[in-house]
Amino acid sequence: MTSSTIYIYGPPGVGKSTVGKILAESLNLPFVDVDEEIEQAANATIPEIFASEGEEAFRDKEERALKGVGETSVVSLGGGALLRRASRNHLRDEQVICLGASLATLTERLQKDGDQRPLLKENALATFLDGRKAHYASFSIQLDTENRTPAESADEIQKRLGRFYLRGMGQGYAARVENGGLNNLAELLNEHGCKPPYMLICDSDVAPIYAEKVAQTVDARTVVFPAGEKHKTIETMTQLWRDLISAGMERGGTILALGGGITNDMAGFAAATIMRGAAWVSIPTSLLSMVDASLGGKTGANLPEGKNLVGAFYPPKLVLADPETLQTLPEAEICNGLAEVVKHGVIADPELLKNLTIKNTTPSRVQASTKFDWAELVIRAMGVKIRIIEEDPYEQGIRAALNFGHTIGHSIESLTNYGIRHGEAVGIGMVAEARLAEHLGIAKSGLADEIAETLVSLGLPTEIPSEISALDLVAAMQSDKKKSKGVVKFALPVKIGEMRVGVVIEDLESVL
Ligand SMILES: NC(=O)c1ccc[n+]([C@@H]2O[C@H](COP(=O)([O-])OP(=O)(O)OC[C@H]3O[C@@H](n4cnc5c(N)ncnc54)[C@H](O)[C@@H]3O)[C@@H](O)[C@H]2O)c1
Repeated sequence: MTSSTIYIYGPPGVGKSTVGKILAESLNLPFVDVDEEIEQAANATIPEIFASEGEEAFRDKEERALKGVGETSVVSLGGGALLRRASRNHLRDEQVICLGASLATLTERLQKDGDQRPLLKENALATFLDGRKAHYASFSIQLDTENRTPAESADEIQKRLGRFYLRGMGQGYAARVENGGLNNLAELLNEHGCKPPYMLICDSDVAPIYAEKVAQTVDARTVVFPAGEKHKTIETMTQLWRDLISAGMERGGTILALGGGITNDMAGFAAATIMRGAAWVSIPTSLLSMVDASLGGKTGANLPEGKNLVGAFYPPKLVLADPETLQTLPEAEICNGLAEVVKHGVIADPELLKNLTIKNTTPSRVQASTKFDWAELVIRAMGVKIRIIEEDPYEQGIRAALNFGHTIGHSIESLTNYGIRHGEAVGIGMVAEARLAEHLGIAKSGLADEIAETLVSLGLPTEIPSEISALDLVAAMQSDKKKSKGVVKFALPVKIGEMRVGVVIEDLESVL
């Protein structure tokens, strides 16, 4: 298995240390600068080592330093650290990111650093880069830093690798997207400080597909609860608590929530409450849970009076999304998740929205479910939610943007007695709310049609069913919002990538 250390490589002046430091800070990992380690150990600068001992002796030191890199970290390498076969072999299975930039940019950056290297003399850098071109190009993960700030490069690396770290709720936690990640679960649990006994919680639909394999991989005891929203109750929770105790739950142990959003919410709440709080890991297997429910630490259950009325903000130790599990997710559930992905694109990622629109084909859900590079899609959509919840962990401001499409969407769900799926209702809700934004002059005309185009291409509906009147819709929204004193507040798009939250609309019925 690949270790979780990330190696940053590339030519002199490309910004390996600067980017590496920012990346380490973002991911809450230790940072190691191999050149600095060598200099400290030798009590001499690298040019001094080259001058006094020669290149071979320096490469020996470099090889030793590389082999000594310990726990999971971000490592910045020297510009020639992987020239030696032995050093390169040592990192054969590791994640090496090779940074690149043009000759002019490298020269400028080296000059800015006040670098006195011989490389800045005449054509030295150009000749040097020519000689190393094939070597640097031979690394599979390349990142062009030309038009990126170091922070943007670090951000892009996180997206390429599907690695995030969420802060803002006391205890931070890592979120990872890894194809085949379930096979590495034991190592990942260990790496994130999770302790046995492991208690695997699944619903009755996911359990037959994944429970046995996962339980064997990590030596877990399994607890299963009935699938479906109608079972997201305190009665089911009571049974879960009791089953966990019977299965040998210990306070120092770890609950593994493997499944969709309901499993995330139920198992997370069980972890928040059992024995006054146990560690837990969210392993989302539905698209909706990967891009939404598993991120943000909200856990809970429904009451007869309404959804999610009991719960806790209780962050997991780790979120691990394995997009390969989406292969078994029913098509209708893919559709639910895609609506949330569209929402994330509209809120904050125009490129994500563009990538979602399937051009020049007959729209079909099956096609949508087979068309995408799921890992890439999940990473981008996750990235949007992570940025928002970091900014506003307890939903006091911008996090309300995530409600886009849901105010009208929820009402449509309840007015059709849940005959319309959540994802479909959210799709219709987004178009209707975007039309509201246009009507109020918050957005330019055409925005709703743009969103509708993407939804249609994914096989999602966009029009409010004709049997629902504006009057019914307003009444349903108001009853949904009783908790917030009957005031319906909208999160509306200004344009793709920008939202306005807390919009109160006078005389709503007449504009719907
Ligand atoms: N905590 C949050 O921040 C948050 C955010 C959004 C939604 N939610 C909650 O999430 C829930 C909806 O989540 P959901 O849509 O994932 O529903 P879900 O958990 O019911 O999963 C949908 C169905 O798909 C099955 N399934 C999941 N993964 C599968 C896989 N890989 N292969 C085969 N079947 C699989 C499940 O067993 C279930 O039958 C709601 O209760 C909602 O309130 C929570």
